[in-house]
Amino acid sequence: MSSLTLPSPRHKLYGRRQSRPLKTGQQALWQDCLPTLLFDNNLCQDVDFWHRQTTCLEIGFGNGEHLFDQALNHPDRLYIGCEPFVNGVASLLQKVGHQLVDNILIFPDDVRLLLAELPERSLDMVVLLFADPWPKKRHHKRRFIQTDQIKAIHRLLKNGCTWRIATDDAGYQDWILSHFSTPEIQNLFHQQRQDIWQRPDTTDWPLTRYEQKALQAGRTPLYLVYEKAVVNPF
Ligand SMILES: C[S@@+](CC[C@H](N)C(=O)[O-])C[C@H]1O[C@@H](n2cnc3c(N)ncnc32)[C@H](O)[C@@H]1O
Repeated sequence: MSSLTLPSPRHKLYGRRQSRPLKTGQQALWQDCLPTLLFDNNLCQDVDFWHRQTTCLEIGFGNGEHLFDQALNHPDRLYIGCEPFVNGVASLLQKVGHQLVDNILIFPDDVRLLLAELPERSLDMVVLLFADPWPKKRHHKRRFIQTDQIKAIHRLLKNGCTWRIATDDAGYQDWILSHFSTPEIQNLFHQQRQDIWQRPDTTDWPLTRYEQKALQAGRTPLYLVYEKAVVNPF
C-alpha cells in the first residue's frame, strides 16, 4: 500500500488544489486507478531502485499531455509525475485508464515534499513546463526556480543528465536565465540547446495545454535543456 506524506506547514502550496468537482467517471478512476499508480514513498529509501532504471520526474504535469506521451514513447523508462491539482491528476488518469501503460507513477502533491526525500543522483531527467509564473514582484518568492531549488535538482540528477524547462512568461524567462547564470549556479549546469527560442521536435517534446494557450495568444516560449555538469570537488 502506498503512503503519502502530508504537506508540511512550511511548504505552503500557492496554487489551487481543485477547481470543479470530479465527474462520476473521474471519481471512479480516482478510487480504482489512482491507488495502483501512487508513488510509494518507501522507494526513496531503496537506492538500488533508482540505479537499475531510467527515471524521469515531471513537476506540475497539468493535464499530463507531455508525461503521458513520453511514457508511451519510452516504455523502458519510468515516469514519475507530480501534480497537486486534483483535476489535472484526474485528466491524466483518464488518459492512462484507456491504455496499457505500466511506467507511470503519480505523486499527487507538492513536489517539494518528494524532492526532500529522493536520494542523491536518483533521476535521469527532470521536466518543468510552463510552471506558474507568479508575475507580481511580491510573489516572485513563490516561483519554483530559486537558487536553492536549482541546487536541489542538481543533487538529485545523475551526472550528465538533463533538466527540461519551458515558459512563455517574459518575466519568468529573464528570471530563469539570470538564475542559471549566477556565479553560484553557472558551473552546475550547461545549457544544451543552440536556439532556445526554437520549439523542439514535438515527437520527443509533446505540446502541453499551457503551451498551446501561449502559442494561440501569440507568445514566444523559451525552451531550455540544462545538463548537469560534473563538478570537480578539488
Ligand atoms: C501553469 S500550470 C502548467 C501545467 C503543464 N505543465 C502544462 O504545461 O500545461 C502549472 C502546474 O504546476 C502545478 N504546481 C504548482 N505548484 C506545484 C508544486 N509545488 N508541486 C507540483 N506541481 C505544482 C500546478 O498545479 C499546475 O498544474
